[in-house]
Amino acid sequence: MARCTAPSAPRFEHHDGSVLGIGAAAPRLSWTIDDAEPGFAQTAYEVEVTRAETTRVFTVEASDQVLVPWPAEPLVSREEAAVRVRVRDAVDWSPWSATSTVEAGLLSPEDWAASFISPRTLAGLETAAPVVRGRFDLPAAAVGRLRLTAHGVYEARLNGQRVGDEVLAPGWTSYSHRLRYQTHDVTDLLREGSNELEVVLGNGWFRGRLGFLGGRGLYGDRLALLAQLEVTDAHGELHVVGTDDSWTAAESGVLADDLYDGQRTDLRRPMWGSESAADVVDVVPVDLGVLVAPDGPPVRVTQVVPAVQVLRSPSGATILDFGQVLVGWVRLRVRGLAAGAEVLVRHAEVLEDGELGVRPLRTARATDTYLVAGGGEEILEPGLTFHGFRYAEVSGAGEVRGEDAEAVVIGSDLQRTGWFSCSDPMLARFHDNVVWGLRGNTVDVPTDCPQRDERLGWTGDIQVFSPTAAFLFNVGGFLTSWLADLSADQLPDGSVPYVIPDVLHDPAPTAAAWGDAAAVVPWVLHERTGDTGILARQLPSMRAWVDRLDALAGESHLWAGGFQFGDWLDPSAPPDDPFAAKTAPDVVATAHLIRSADLVAQVASILGQDAVAGHYRVVAAAVRSAFGREYVTPGGRLLSDAPTAYAMALQWDLLPTSEQRVGAQRRLADLVRASGFHINTGFVGTPLVTDALVGGGDVDVAYRLLLQTSCPSWLYPVTMGATTVWERWDSLLPDGSINPGEMTSFNHYALGAVADWLHRVVAGLAPAEPGYRRLLVEPRPCAALTSARARHLTPYGEAAVSWERDGGVFTVDVLVPVGARATVRLPGQEEQTVGHGAYRWEVPDPCRVGGHRIPRTVRDVFDDPAIWTEVVNASAAAGVATDETAVAKRLTPFLDDPAGEVVERLFAHGPRDGYDTLTKQLQPLLAP
Ligand code: BGC
Repeated sequence: MARCTAPSAPRFEHHDGSVLGIGAAAPRLSWTIDDAEPGFAQTAYEVEVTRAETTRVFTVEASDQVLVPWPAEPLVSREEAAVRVRVRDAVDWSPWSATSTVEAGLLSPEDWAASFISPRTLAGLETAAPVVRGRFDLPAAAVGRLRLTAHGVYEARLNGQRVGDEVLAPGWTSYSHRLRYQTHDVTDLLREGSNELEVVLGNGWFRGRLGFLGGRGLYGDRLALLAQLEVTDAHGELHVVGTDDSWTAAESGVLADDLYDGQRTDLRRPMWGSESAADVVDVVPVDLGVLVAPDGPPVRVTQVVPAVQVLRSPSGATILDFGQVLVGWVRLRVRGLAAGAEVLVRHAEVLEDGELGVRPLRTARATDTYLVAGGGEEILEPGLTFHGFRYAEVSGAGEVRGEDAEAVVIGSDLQRTGWFSCSDPMLARFHDNVVWGLRGNTVDVPTDCPQRDERLGWTGDIQVFSPTAAFLFNVGGFLTSWLADLSADQLPDGSVPYVIPDVLHDPAPTAAAWGDAAAVVPWVLHERTGDTGILARQLPSMRAWVDRLDALAGESHLWAGGFQFGDWLDPSAPPDDPFAAKTAPDVVATAHLIRSADLVAQVASILGQDAVAGHYRVVAAAVRSAFGREYVTPGGRLLSDAPTAYAMALQWDLLPTSEQRVGAQRRLADLVRASGFHINTGFVGTPLVTDALVGGGDVDVAYRLLLQTSCPSWLYPVTMGATTVWERWDSLLPDGSINPGEMTSFNHYALGAVADWLHRVVAGLAPAEPGYRRLLVEPRPCAALTSARARHLTPYGEAAVSWERDGGVFTVDVLVPVGARATVRLPGQEEQTVGHGAYRWEVPDPCRVGGHRIPRTVRDVFDDPAIWTEVVNASAAAGVATDETAVAKRLTPFLDDPAGEVVERLFAHGPRDGYDTLTKQLQPLLAP
């Protein structure tokens, strides 16, 4: 009798279901088991592989179910295999899973019969987007496959029907090293006899504007297409045709297209070009060795959002509001316009003084224009560009009704895998904003922002955000691909470009926290997906990075001097100087060197490369002791007396003695108090600070920081109506104006990296072993929240933790998927480890609620939210200090003084007006 349900149909590599055109000849397999009796443990599995007419079953004695090796002969190009699995415990086999199929792509350049072609005279930089067209006589197809890619972006039609549903294919990679091609099943689009394939080519990343340096055509000045149509007839014979010099080209109705500037479309012209204006094509030389199959999902339309209102701006403009900052374009229905009338759609993420706030776009024009055909109803929609926006100003379209407009959301079609909710609606909204931030910044590449003349694969941003990303969505394939680009673009000396794919071409790009993506992102993928192969593949790149830093540090073992971004966008840095952080860049740099060396040592040891591991342990130890010598006092003060410095030191084990650790912990918490519980960290410290606080037991201080709503804080943007995470803590200033800094995006994921802490620590669902094979369930409740919940589709299946505080009882529900275990730590309870299943624990609520406690010290006054609020409000009312920050500043020097002296201390340096009122008001709270 089977003791578990049938496993899920197997997955291949990081793909979700069946895969067409996979690039791995020996794709690894994973499956989940929905349900099993208590105590069930897989001891063996069988994989049945059917290829051509042969079926073989492979039996493996192992408990693994995530990314297990392909058991059969490798696939050859175009080969299809149907795969199913079953598992056994000590007792019996499960039923067989459903079948998934995997079909190999073209695994060798020799498999391509087609050549890259480019229009000979059309398709200049300033001319319309070309359509290239080929015609073929083909037999009836039992199976039809179309494989294609481009220099530029493409959209294809076969016999007048759109091929697939991808947008902006083939996406963006380091084109000279890796160019993705797509494989489509076109069996149903083909017909016996004459067939016509048409492909429109846009500039995309290849030839459009790219980067804030103003460049265009960075990868080349000619658009080109490679397309190969493969038909297997009823007898099993393969017929291959493809792009060659018999193709023709014509101009499409797209007069201009650019990712930053937008698209200009003439709807009076035939969209797919006119035969009368045909051009010939040239075969252009491109190394087919760079072609790779996709590792992750393509960019698609993922949602359509209706307009929520139509606004009339003070200047009289018509502005559509979609209610959400998003990424994609506007689809607009117009009617009754004169032929040739011009309709303009401009985009922006915010309004300023009621008008479109386009200054943050810098030089990106983000404008779609249409010359309409006129007469009846027309749908206006681009397809070769995208914009980041919430608002769209429409002109030339006459009366615009809300129901005639929708926002088409695009992005890499990543599977959603993570959810978080809690009792605080603002925090829940913040989390939604993080999700939208991720969606908008995963348009094939993990970007900084999606709207201005930038949209680049900034390494530092994904370095800090990758743990959050890996919880919320299946980014396994997406980041696997990006890391391949990182390795490809890494400099021979190990330096890592600031952006991947590299379009900035800095000759010596070594910036801490940015280049460290080379070490951190593979580690995060391993930790979250259980993929060890990615470590093996990236180890050379990781090592090269650390070797480079080690060389830079030289004999001092301190990485000092040189260009650094540092703790970028520390809130105390002025708008025009985001570099001016409180934490010295040298401290940030050396700390990162230690962290990355540690990671390389761990990775090498996981891969069984002990000598390599030993080497990097020695590197890390030498730098650690140099760091301790140079930057830490015996009592645990750091050279940069700023939260980011302490957070790094505590989180990355940079403090050798327990006295230093205790001192640093105390100092970190005091610095948070000193800022009036406002955030005081930039890109580097922000993802670390709450973990560092909780690690030392300052849970309540961490929550005070998290739940702060005045500026700067995570929730301040929510109070300002934000629907995404902003680049700056104050991208929109409290008076509603746009931050004057020249970088002011309203859709940047980096500062949303704290969401990983919400999942792991607030809700309490963390990975304890790679791929969540063991979960760590350790929720850390606080008085300000009555419930929280996180749910994640781990590689083993769904895991969830939810808790509630009610009536003095802390109730925790936990779901552990089959194949995983969970170590559970609950307040006041012994730690325990449990197997799969659903559990509930009820323990005394550890949070103190209600009841007035007399504070002992000024520090206790800070720490009691109710008393603190009274002190702040009373001080403000009495005119002693303007707000929380000012009160905190006054009291910080006196943290260890008796609480009863708070009023005295508030007046330490100033006139004593209001002293008596304040004493009367506060003293009962502060002293017995
Ligand atoms: C980007 C950042 C990036 C930074 C480098 C900015 O322009 O938008 O997110 O990491 O430059 O410091």
